[in-house]
Formats: sequence, structure tokens, C-alpha cells
Amino acid sequence: MEEKNLADLQTLVSLCKRRGFIYQSSEIYGGLNSCWDYGPLGAQFKMNVKQAWWKAMTRRPDVVGLDAAILMHPTVWKASGHVDGFSDPLVDCLDCKNRFREDTAEKNKESKTICPKCGSLNLTEPRNFNLMFETNMGAVKDESSVVYLRPETAQGIFVNFLNVQTSMRKKIPFGIAQIGKSFRNEITPGNFTFRTREFEQMEMQYFIKPGTDEESFEKWKSIRWDFYKNIGLRLDKLRYKEHGLGEIAHYAKAAFDVEYEFPIGWQELEGIHNRTNFDLTQHQEFSNKKLEYFDEAAKEKYLPYVIETAVGCDRLCLALLCDSYREEVTTLDNGKVDTRVVLKLQPQFAPNKVAILPLSKKAPLQELAGQVFETLIKDLEVEYDEAGSIGKRYRRQDEIGTPFCITIDFDSLEDKAVTIRHRDTMKQERIPLEKIEMYVKQQLESF
Ligand code: GAP
Repeated sequence: MEEKNLADLQTLVSLCKRRGFIYQSSEIYGGLNSCWDYGPLGAQFKMNVKQAWWKAMTRRPDVVGLDAAILMHPTVWKASGHVDGFSDPLVDCLDCKNRFREDTAEKNKESKTICPKCGSLNLTEPRNFNLMFETNMGAVKDESSVVYLRPETAQGIFVNFLNVQTSMRKKIPFGIAQIGKSFRNEITPGNFTFRTREFEQMEMQYFIKPGTDEESFEKWKSIRWDFYKNIGLRLDKLRYKEHGLGEIAHYAKAAFDVEYEFPIGWQELEGIHNRTNFDLTQHQEFSNKKLEYFDEAAKEKYLPYVIETAVGCDRLCLALLCDSYREEVTTLDNGKVDTRVVLKLQPQFAPNKVAILPLSKKAPLQELAGQVFETLIKDLEVEYDEAGSIGKRYRRQDEIGTPFCITIDFDSLEDKAVTIRHRDTMKQERIPLEKIEMYVKQQLESF
């Protein structure tokens, strides 16, 4: 048997559509570019990913959660630098009408930008294109009613820093974690859910005493690396990349990206930034409200520094899908080639933990299968499937990453036992009915 990894994103796009993970948004109207809907399995999978991150970040004594509004006071975005600076240089090709980012396009020997679509040098001058989506709040649509869909969740944390610190009686160092939607009017979205205009971020801002930032930065780099290791991403597909001088954001003193090797190449998965006290200084100035922290023990006041860890939830979902995708190719005795597609997701991420597959739709088997379903559904995501051949049903569960299939056959009525099939090894075991729940839970824990 030969094992193959995911060769291209298109293969995953069709699996996701076929199996109810991800659909193109508004597909019946021709789709909306760069927007995607998570189907029943995708929604559960994404929730599992968020839960893993939320647990890792907030089940610690020094980090608390937050859920801030998407719409914020427009001055927030002046203070943060987004109104003036959150833009990409946009260029139009006068020959093929392609519109693209000048800073990411290739240059010729004379450093002239080349159109990535047709190779022309006949381009417009670059103009700054702000990536924030604007809308209007209230009934009047004018300059004064402009609000923005947030381009990052981070600012909701900064403006709530003192609220959280005082209401939760937190002492520095402490962090605030948040999961939520962000919006960017990207010039070149694409590659499935990798870069979209509406996406979800999972961010954490860790507030620290100035001078302890470098040590804290290293600590968070290592905590976040361990997170990726623990969730099972292959380590040879992960690396850290430091931002060079030209790449570093206006607010950051140091920045590292966690990169993952997607089928489209090495790309950013998470950014870890030392944001200094840039944001709190800006908000203090623009709001005219003191945002200093008072250290009672040392009897001193200061504006904390911030270490930020920021990962896109959709991008992490994509990385997990790419990483877990396998094709097991076997040449059969008759010379035909059989390919088993398996998502080797850790059970914590699998949308279904168990599938219940009665061998027949006949009453006694259905009844018994229904009882097993009712027992397991209390604590686990369970799918009941009685349609089609058992082989095809196994393959469908393999493709959606279900760790265990329980087959109920006519013998089950006699010996009061079922067959449990393991996704990765395809090993089958006969387990007595009364032990199923305990067995499955133990197996899920020790996976
Ligand atoms: N608060 C800092 C911040 O937002 P960022 O590097 O711009 O930093 C953090 O974004 C993460 O959000 C990225 O590493 C990426 O995973 C995700 N992200 C950013 N833009 C995205 C987009 N257009 N589509 C999907 N995910 C995106």
C-alpha cells in the first residue's frame, strides 16, 4: 500500500463540497468571490478547532476570555493606524485589466513591476487601497455615520484592557483571548479559505511590564509551538519565520510567523508580535482616558507592553484538513487500483466521533442500532447511517475523519455484541453491547 499526501487544494475543495464541510457562499447565484459557508460537518469541525484553541488559551490562571462587538467607535481605527495605514498598493494592468498588489508581484531587472497574469509592464501607478469595509450606522448615510467592520479582533481587547483588568482583579502579567469575525477587503483573496474577505481570528493579547517583553515573547513562541505539536500538525510542515526590517508591522518591535507548508507552499498560519505599548499609548491619546496599570506592590504606574498571538481560525482549519488528508493506494489482485481517502484528524477535531451502521434496515437491527445511537449521542457527536453498502459507508466515514464505525449485524441480536472498526488501521473488534460506551470513550481518550 502506498500512502500519498494532499497534492493540490482543488482535491480538498471538492471533498469539502461533496462531504458537507465547506460550500461556496451564495452558490446558486453564481457564488460570492472569497466567501465560504461551512456545511454541517464543517461547522462542527470549526467549532472543535475553536474549542481546542479556547481551552489551550483560557484554561490557565493568567488568561481570560472576551467577546467584543464587531462594530466599534470609528476613532478606534484612527488610533490604531488602520484608517491611515491599513492599505495595500493597488495596480491595474492596462493590457489585460488584471488588478493586483504591487508589493507581492515580481519585478524585472530594472525593478519594474510585471503583471502576474500577462507579463506586461504597462501598468497604472500604484495607489493605496484601504482594506477596511465601511458601512453606516443609523438612518443617516453620511460622513458622520461611517463605521467599519473590524479588520482585526485585537482592538476590541485593547479598548477593554482596563475594564477586564479591574472587573476581573487581574495583576500583570495577564492575557485576554478572543475568537471572532474580522473583515478585510483583500485585493487578491483566494486559495480556497486561505485568504478571504470575511474570516475568523483567534487572538490573545498578553499584557506585561515593559522590560519583560523579550522574555515573554520567547515564552509565547514556545507555548504556541507546543500547541501546534499537540494538535497533531506534522512538525516537518511547520516552521518559524522572523519578519525582516521591511516586513515588520508599524506597531511591532519583533514579529515571528508560524508557517505551515500548504499545497500552495509555505504560508503564514499565525503571527506572534511584540506590539510594545503602541496600541495602549494610541488609545490613551485618542480617547483622553488614562489606560495605565497601577502596580500596587511596586507602587508604580505604567502602560503595559503587549505580546500578541494571532491565528486565523479558517486558516488553521485549512491546515488541519491539508495535514490530515491521506490517499491509501492499493493494487488489488485483479490489477485494479483501489484508493481509500482518509482524514486522519485527531478525534477532538473529527466532526463525528462515531458512526452507527446497521447492516440492514429491518426492524430488529434498526431498533438495536437506535438504542446504541441514543446511548452514545448523549456525550458524543454520532451519525446514524443505514443507506448503501457497508463498504461505501465505511469509505464515507473515512473521508470525513470519523475515528470509529460501529456495525450492527444479525449476529448482534444473538451474541449481544457489535463490531467496532478503527479508521486508521481498519482493524475490527467485537465488543459486547454493554461495554460500547466505555470502550469508545477510552479509545477516544487514548488515541
Ligand atoms: N492582530 C494582528 C493581526 O491581525 P495578521 O497577521 O494580519 O495580524 C493574524 O492576522 C492571522 O489572521 C494571520 O496569521 C492569518 O492566519 C489570519 N488572517 C489574516 N488575514 C486573513 C484573510 N484575509 N483570510 C484568512 N485569514 C486571515
